[in-house]
Amino acid sequence: MRQKQQYWLLPLLITAGIVTSWITYLYSASISLKWQEKKVGLNSECVSKHNEGLLWRQVQHQVVLSHRLQSKQAMLKEAVRTDVLTITPWLAPIVWEGTFDPQVIDEAFKSYNLTIATTVFAVGKYIRFLHDFLESSEKYFMVGMNVHYYVFTDMPGDVPGNMSLGVGRRLNILKVPKFDRWQEISLRRMELIQNAIEEYIHQEAHYIFCLDVDMRFHGRVGPEALGKLVAAIHPWFYWYTHNQFPYERRSISTAYIPLDQGDFYYQANIFGGAMEDIHRLTKTCREHLEVDKSVGVEALWQEESHLNWYLLKNKPTKLLSPEYVWDDLRGPGAKEIKLVRFSSVIKNKTEIRENI
Ligand SMILES: *[C@@H]1O[C@H](CO)[C@@H](O)[C@H](O)[C@H]1NC(C)=O
Ligand SMILES: *[C@@H]1O[C@H](CO)[C@@H](O)[C@H](O)[C@H]1NC(C)=O
Ligand SMILES: *[C@@H]1O[C@H](CO)[C@@H](O)[C@H](O)[C@H]1NC(C)=O
Repeated sequence: MRQKQQYWLLPLLITAGIVTSWITYLYSASISLKWQEKKVGLNSECVSKHNEGLLWRQVQHQVVLSHRLQSKQAMLKEAVRTDVLTITPWLAPIVWEGTFDPQVIDEAFKSYNLTIATTVFAVGKYIRFLHDFLESSEKYFMVGMNVHYYVFTDMPGDVPGNMSLGVGRRLNILKVPKFDRWQEISLRRMELIQNAIEEYIHQEAHYIFCLDVDMRFHGRVGPEALGKLVAAIHPWFYWYTHNQFPYERRSISTAYIPLDQGDFYYQANIFGGAMEDIHRLTKTCREHLEVDKSVGVEALWQEESHLNWYLLKNKPTKLLSPEYVWDDLRGPGAKEIKLVRFSSVIKNKTEIRENI
C-alpha cells in the first residue's frame, strides 16, 4: 500500500512543479511587460516634454454626423475620380473636387469648435496683397471655424484697418525686421513661424496653416484640408517625373535629394497641419537652413527646397491637389482642375522683389 502511494506521488510532484514554474514564469513575464509599457510611456512623455517643453491642444479625429445628415451611398466599384491620383502610395488621400462631400465634412467638424492659426508674411511691397488675401479668405477659408490670422510685417501701420472679420476670426499683427533681399523672407520664415508657435500660437489653436500673401481664394478651402501634416502639389510640376522636379540636387545642401528619389513636388505657398507636426517641420527646416547658411549654401528654391526634403522623409498624411495652390499664370485651362480654390496672383516679380 505504502509503495503504491509513492508510485503516483512522484509524477504528481513533477506535474505540480511544472505547473508552478509556468505560473511563476507567466506572472513575471506579465509584470515585466507592464513595466516595459510603463517605462516606454514615461519615456515618450519625457521626450516630448524635454524636446518641445510645450503642451499641445489635442484634437479628436472621429467623424460624428447628426441624424439628419447622411453621406451619399458610396459604391466600392465606382471610383470618384478616374482622371487623377486620389491616394498616394503610402495611403494618404489627395483632395480633389469630387472626392469629398463638403456638407458631410462641415457637419463632421462643426461640433469640435476648432481654431486654425494662419500665418501670412506681408513684408515690403508684399503688403499690397494683404487686403485682397484677407477679403477672399474671409469668404472661402475655413468658413464657420475660428481662424486666428498672424500677419508678419515690417509695416504694421499699413495693415488694412477696414477689414471686417467674421465671428471667431481674429487678426494679430507681428512686427518683423525689414529684409534686404526677397529670398531673405523665404529663408527666415521657418524660424519666425517656429518661434511664434513656441511663444503663443500653440496655446491658441489646434491646427496651423502657413500661407503666402500674394494669393487669392476663389473657392472653398475648408476642414477637408485639415490633417496632421498637409502639403499641396505644385501646379506646374504634377505631370513631371521625380527626376525632373526642381529639388535641390547639390549634395552640399541639407535639402539634397538624389535624382532617383522623390514623391511629389510640393509648393511652399500653403502647408499646414497639427501644431506639433508643423512645429517639428519648421524647427527641422530652420536648422537645415542654418547649416546651409554656415557653409555659404542657399538651396535652389530656399525654404521650398527644404520643405520638399522634409516631406520626402516625413510623408504628409494628406495632400492637397493643385486646386489648392493654383497659379493665375496657368489660366483656367487644365481639364483636371474642376475648381480653382487658392491661386497666386499675376504680378511683376522684378518690380515687387526689387528693394524689398
Ligand atoms: C469655441 O472656441 C473659441 C476659441 O477658442 C472660444 O472662445 C469659445 O468660447 C468656444 N465656444 C464654445 C461654445 O465652446
Ligand atoms: C480698404 O483698404 C484697402 C487698402 O488698404 C483698399 O484697397 C480697399 O478698397 C478698402 N476697402 C473699403 C471697403 O474701404
Ligand atoms: C516690371 O518691373 C520692372 C521694374 O520696375 C520694369 O522695368 C518692367 O518694365 C516691368 N515689366 C512689366 C511687364 O511691366
